[in-house]
Amino acid sequence: MATKITPFAISALLVVLSGSASAAPEGIASVYEDSFLVGTAIKSSDLTGNLPAKNSLPCSEFNALTAENAMKWQHIQPAPGQFNFAMADQLIALAQQCGARVIGHTLLWHQQTPAWVFEDEQGNPVSREVLLVRLREHIHTLVGRYKGKVYGWDVVNEALNEDGSLRDTPWRRILGDDFYVHAFRFAKEADPEAQLYYNDFNMYKPAKVAGAVKLVKQLGDAGIKVDAVGMQAHYSLFYPSLSDIEQSMKTLRNAGVRIAITELDISVLPLPDDAFSGADITQSFAAHPVYDPYVEGLPATQQHQLAELYQQLFALFLKYADSVDRVTFWGTTDADSWRNNWPIRGRTDHPLLFDRNGRPKAAYEAITRHID
Ligand code: XIL
Repeated sequence: MATKITPFAISALLVVLSGSASAAPEGIASVYEDSFLVGTAIKSSDLTGNLPAKNSLPCSEFNALTAENAMKWQHIQPAPGQFNFAMADQLIALAQQCGARVIGHTLLWHQQTPAWVFEDEQGNPVSREVLLVRLREHIHTLVGRYKGKVYGWDVVNEALNEDGSLRDTPWRRILGDDFYVHAFRFAKEADPEAQLYYNDFNMYKPAKVAGAVKLVKQLGDAGIKVDAVGMQAHYSLFYPSLSDIEQSMKTLRNAGVRIAITELDISVLPLPDDAFSGADITQSFAAHPVYDPYVEGLPATQQHQLAELYQQLFALFLKYADSVDRVTFWGTTDADSWRNNWPIRGRTDHPLLFDRNGRPKAAYEAITRHID
């Protein structure tokens, strides 16, 4: 692609240089609109009171919105048959106001799913039949309600181990090895037009991405098309390598599988040596000041490193633009990022494009300045 300096890129640069907190009129999504959607995750507190305004960052910068938590099972159906749609409805309203697509996250996951789903009244595991009915009811109710309004669903989240085998979860234990096929089938029944995705972390690992390709093929054999595989992309300044990410993108492209980058953030903070990379939300390490060095702000060197890495990543996404449908950031400003609390609670991380005051960072400038 030829180097293109768009009028927006220039105005974005001016916003950065002037340090203005106001959003640019079009946003990062417009810079990439010929290549892929650019999305963000909306936190629940933005879906409970007044909606973010039309000129707020989530609305003005992005054209795809995912609920960070509001559509997860524990929020949408906390007790049997008790559906709480208020926040999810607000997400749809926000997307309509912003002219953005809605991405539903997520229908089947072993995390943030209440224990009752897998248990009878005595606390014993339910039968396969009972769990299938519960899964069907959940998916039909949720996907059915937003039929035609949700562009695509993360149908199954994190079903794979690091070696690409199926993870041991209550879903698999009770339903069997084809548990994920049922989730996709129910979603397809409920909204045949919606896109359906498989989503996971550490997809830069060859074995794990191979597992995802296998899963997509098995779903294909069962007559279900997976529209994209989601690479969550909870990265850090220290891992993974760009070449590992590219290798996985190549594997997916060669297998004819489309790609969505679904939860992009880049932590700048150090971790204990024994911390393994990933995004298992149950991972937790003890806090220590040594792991929280940028409480007062991100020094210029790290700010620059972050910008450079974002620029390289977006260059890679553009290189694979014929296979990449969407790049979604897991949040908009550093103040809201889950990385402040994971995998060590209470830190001050700086993983996103906008700082704690909503000002665009050097990383924003780096990926909106030009497109190669
Ligand atoms: C995270 C949210 O950002 C947090 O607010 C919540 O406490 C835990 O979950 N993989 C996923 C996301 O698919 O749903 C997770 O989101 C991050 C890891």
